[in-house]
Amino acid sequence: METTTCSHLLGLVVISFILVPPKAFAADGVTDTFSKGRNITDNETLVSANGAFTMGFFSPGVSTKRYLGIWFTVSRDAVCWVANRESPIHDNSGVLMVSDTGSLLLLDGSGRIAWSSNSSSTSPVEAQLLDNGNLVVRNPGSTTVLWHSFAHPSNVMLSGMKVGKDFSSGDEWYLTSWRSADDPSPGAFRRVLDTSGRPDNIVWQGSVKTFRSGPWNGVRFGGIPEVLTYQQDLFEYQMVISPREVTYGYNVKPGAAFTYVVLTEDGEVKRLVWDASIRAWQTTYQGPRDVCDAYGKCGAFNLCNVSAASAAFCGCIRGFGLASPSRIAGRCQRNVALNCAAGGATTDGFVPVSGVKLPDTHNASVDTGITVEECRARCLANCSCLAYAAADISAGGDGRGCIMWADDLLDMRYVDKGQDLYLRLAESELPPPAAALPPPSLPSRSRAFPTGPVIGAVGSLVGILLVAFLVLVVIRRRRRRRPSNIGPTTPDGFIQRTTPAPTVPSSELSSLKKATGDFSESNIIGRGGFGIVYEGHLPDGRKVAVKRLIQSSLTDEGGNAFMREVGVMSKLRHGNLLQLLSYCQDGNERILVYEYMKNKSLNLYIFGGNPRLRALLNWDRRLEIVRGVARGVAYLHGLSEEVIHRDLKSSNILLDDNWRPKIADFGTAKLFVVDETDPTLIKSAGYTAPEYLSSQRHLTLKCDVYSFGIILMEIISGKRNTDTPALLSDAWESWNQGMIRDLLDPAVAQPEPELLFELERCVQIGLLCVQQSPDDRSAMSAVVAMLNSNSLQIRAPKRPVLDSKTEPPLHEAADRSTQEASGTSHSSHYSVYLT
Ligand SMILES: *[C@@H]1O[C@H](CO)[C@@H](O)[C@H](O)[C@H]1NC(C)=O
Ligand SMILES: *[C@@H]1O[C@H](CO)[C@@H](O)[C@H](O)[C@H]1NC(C)=O
Ligand SMILES: *[C@@H]1O[C@H](CO)[C@@H](O)[C@H](O)[C@H]1NC(C)=O
Ligand SMILES: *[C@@H]1O[C@H](CO)[C@@H](O)[C@H](O)[C@H]1NC(C)=O
Ligand SMILES: *[C@@H]1O[C@H](CO)[C@@H](O)[C@H](O)[C@H]1NC(C)=O
Ligand SMILES: *[C@@H]1O[C@H](CO)[C@@H](O)[C@H](O)[C@H]1NC(C)=O
Repeated sequence: METTTCSHLLGLVVISFILVPPKAFAADGVTDTFSKGRNITDNETLVSANGAFTMGFFSPGVSTKRYLGIWFTVSRDAVCWVANRESPIHDNSGVLMVSDTGSLLLLDGSGRIAWSSNSSSTSPVEAQLLDNGNLVVRNPGSTTVLWHSFAHPSNVMLSGMKVGKDFSSGDEWYLTSWRSADDPSPGAFRRVLDTSGRPDNIVWQGSVKTFRSGPWNGVRFGGIPEVLTYQQDLFEYQMVISPREVTYGYNVKPGAAFTYVVLTEDGEVKRLVWDASIRAWQTTYQGPRDVCDAYGKCGAFNLCNVSAASAAFCGCIRGFGLASPSRIAGRCQRNVALNCAAGGATTDGFVPVSGVKLPDTHNASVDTGITVEECRARCLANCSCLAYAAADISAGGDGRGCIMWADDLLDMRYVDKGQDLYLRLAESELPPPAAALPPPSLPSRSRAFPTGPVIGAVGSLVGILLVAFLVLVVIRRRRRRRPSNIGPTTPDGFIQRTTPAPTVPSSELSSLKKATGDFSESNIIGRGGFGIVYEGHLPDGRKVAVKRLIQSSLTDEGGNAFMREVGVMSKLRHGNLLQLLSYCQDGNERILVYEYMKNKSLNLYIFGGNPRLRALLNWDRRLEIVRGVARGVAYLHGLSEEVIHRDLKSSNILLDDNWRPKIADFGTAKLFVVDETDPTLIKSAGYTAPEYLSSQRHLTLKCDVYSFGIILMEIISGKRNTDTPALLSDAWESWNQGMIRDLLDPAVAQPEPELLFELERCVQIGLLCVQQSPDDRSAMSAVVAMLNSNSLQIRAPKRPVLDSKTEPPLHEAADRSTQEASGTSHSSHYSVYLT
């Protein structure tokens, strides 16, 4: 019913767009405004003049209860605000009306007030849904707002909204999570701007801090450097720090994609950006990202290093040792007492602790009006000052302003592009004089992010909206993707993972037998070390790919882990991941059922012997495939429980009817790895990162980045990295000499100059992915950002190390699917499911 109403309404809107110029439509004010005399019933909606936002009744998740809310018109699941969060209406009798006294009233069928704006006015009022999603109540013609929804945030922060405190009125604005995906009533988490000290976004679970964005540093919040990769084209921060108010918000740039920040029911903060090309929200930022983001993971004066070799991640800062040696994550204490007499006579000094998310500034004193040198002197002169740092680094150099800490330094971690903290230590603890000089300036690290030109909107706003509307009329309601499970927090702040239950159904073995002709040879579409893939026909006529894992190659542990991995896999939903449809566990049988991909796997095209097939993937398609694969991998990496694919290769990339790439076999690889020192199984020649081939077997997200870089090079060149050991050096040479044409697959028509420029950028990004040192490789989120914007500045790659000795002999790590795909038999086609 909802869908029908919605389609009708949108049909109407689209027609209005076509028939009347947008200005007139907006000024018309019929659909975005209502007043006394027009009620909004359960089957009606209000749409903002620009069409971006819709207000109406909805039922979240599996709930049947009705709530009044505002959502993005393109995506009914993206609810930004809910009126009656705690007071649902149990049927379709809800009515929103304007009262005689100037309030918005939400009534149910019995006349009970489910919600009220509590605004009052002696003259008539009207309500309007503005283009930014704000619902305002005011007297017609007046600019004075009596009430607006932005002042009552739910779990979403939209462009134009602000959070923080107004000290004169005592008002405070913050986000509260939903209780669950099915229940918008206030849940366990709040995200509050801490206005004491330097502004910092704190996520609270009850009275416990769980995550901190890091203090504002004049440019961004210090603990989330990844914002630099997407913020420039998307939005500008709006930070107000004055005696009257401390608030922050953001304003999207004209023509930028839809975006919002949400505090999920699990206490995660996410920024989503609407990707119109695949009609889905992409998560561009998600925090907490790792163990070191868990608030207070390490005790006072203890610093968290997420790449630390030890599982404890914590280490005392210089001059400090563990208070209780058995508790590595515990509090650290000073080795040598400070020497500071009242009146300022001291022999103490400072050492920099570099590249950190600054400690919690809640009790710190801040003065933005002085220089860092003055800050140092002020700290040295006050015996209670234990550390200082610059408050604002927006002008580059050492920054300016002053933050001084006088009590425990809490929640410190190393972070990319982190700041320097100057720690007060006794004379004997200081490094030898040469190194103890005043802090050297670090021009390269603290330099502001390069500002490239901002590419504007791709089309007129009207055009975009029109397309968005048409698309919405056509597409069906997308399934809500539930965030992954996060369990409760332990006393030391660690987040416990709970095993997710599969959200896909299980299949009977008998029905899978029927679908595949009792696993008949003639239905085999692929064969590999881990499983055989059959084409299956379901009773409803749908074709599926049925992957039957080979029992003998499944380890005991793998067999046991099957359900857990199915649980994880079934939760992974993304336009660029092959969707798991169902599974079967029966006796020793372990079977996975996937969507069927008509166009089979990428390797068949880019390495195919048939020039027509190769040319079918023209440059535009190839670039789209590179972007799609990057998005899929970034999605896996961006989840709270980071998923490392481990076995990315071009035969694992499937293509759907529209040549959209879908990554297969995520999650499966794990089932076959007993211990990570066993190299025999997951190692596909040519795609494996050097550090994983080395004796340490260092498996990180950056291994996937490397494999992605190889796939990218293969897509551009049409050459296999294994067949062409010189592929990386060819790529480097052609890029370095500006002769990118030499690298391109000759089977595809020569690109136009503009496209050539894009391909060149693409190769540069690929080179950043295959750097020898994992630290030099970009994160996938950054790769996506770079691939999506022609204006983002890309750093220059180093020449990749091309030491053939780091590659294993080919026979040792033969890529099974590669062997099969090169054959011509029927069974070669689905190499993808083979791993
Ligand atoms: C709006 O709803 C209220 C409450 O149900 C009702 O009393 C009133 O008549 C309705 N007004 C209109 C114009 O439908
Ligand atoms: C909504 O429902 C009411 C009663 O159920 C009906 O009178 C009204 O015409 C409907 N409005 C729309 C726009 O369908
Ligand atoms: C309106 O006032 C009622 C009664 O004082 C209160 O319970 C409710 O929370 C208020 N609603 C809002 C939106 O402030
Ligand atoms: C974090 O630990 C790793 C591994 O021990 C080490 O190489 C790295 O230097 C540490 N990071 C910092 C910033 O000290
Ligand atoms: C701030 O000081 C109060 C009172 O001493 C203390 O309870 C709290 O833990 C301190 N907070 C931080 C973040 O240092
Ligand atoms: C020293 O620092 C403490 C803590 O920041 C502050 O309360 C005190 O006023 C300072 N003393 C002087 C003399 O500035």
